[in-house]
Amino acid sequence: MQENERMLRTKHAKLLGFLKKELSEKRVRHSIAVAQRAYELAGFFHADKEILWTAGIAHDLCREENDAKLRELAVESHFPVDEYENETPILLHGKAAVTYLRRQYPISELAYFAIAHHTLGHASPTLALKILYLADASSLDRDIDFRDDLKNQNLDKQCCIIIEDLKKRYTLHSQTQHMYFACGGKKTSNSFKN
Ligand SMILES: [Fe+2]
Repeated sequence: MQENERMLRTKHAKLLGFLKKELSEKRVRHSIAVAQRAYELAGFFHADKEILWTAGIAHDLCREENDAKLRELAVESHFPVDEYENETPILLHGKAAVTYLRRQYPISELAYFAIAHHTLGHASPTLALKILYLADASSLDRDIDFRDDLKNQNLDKQCCIIIEDLKKRYTLHSQTQHMYFACGGKKTSNSFKN
């Protein structure tokens, strides 16, 4: 762990406390791994390291909430919720986490946008969202077979590699597909979920 990151753990001890209260050990480990990766990537791609670290820590805060609570918290976030998300409430855990944070541990709007959209991506991804999306998909606790492909690629290309991997297994949600285009991915005739 880098020295500055150690300082962030001390400064945001209360946020780490919420994490340990809300999530299983495995997800706490994942969140810390994502925060570490987001912190490193933020340094590399000239983003705010503290915002990305806190976004990484908090992105899955509501991942273990029940469906009703996820819907309730997500609606209160004021980020739009579409029909597909409403029918698949686990996808709302990012938007739900925004409401949780606003109530309990306000951070920053930049972090909120990234956290809200880390599940499906967004048609107009911010730098922070791209970094969090990449950090979540490639944190060291994940067993992924495309890790080597990410090396020496720019941020947009790395996001595209992640979305291409997703596409092998799922029909992409329209926001994910549009994020792929926004990152320079090639248009294909694939069907959208929405
Ligand atoms: Fe998540």
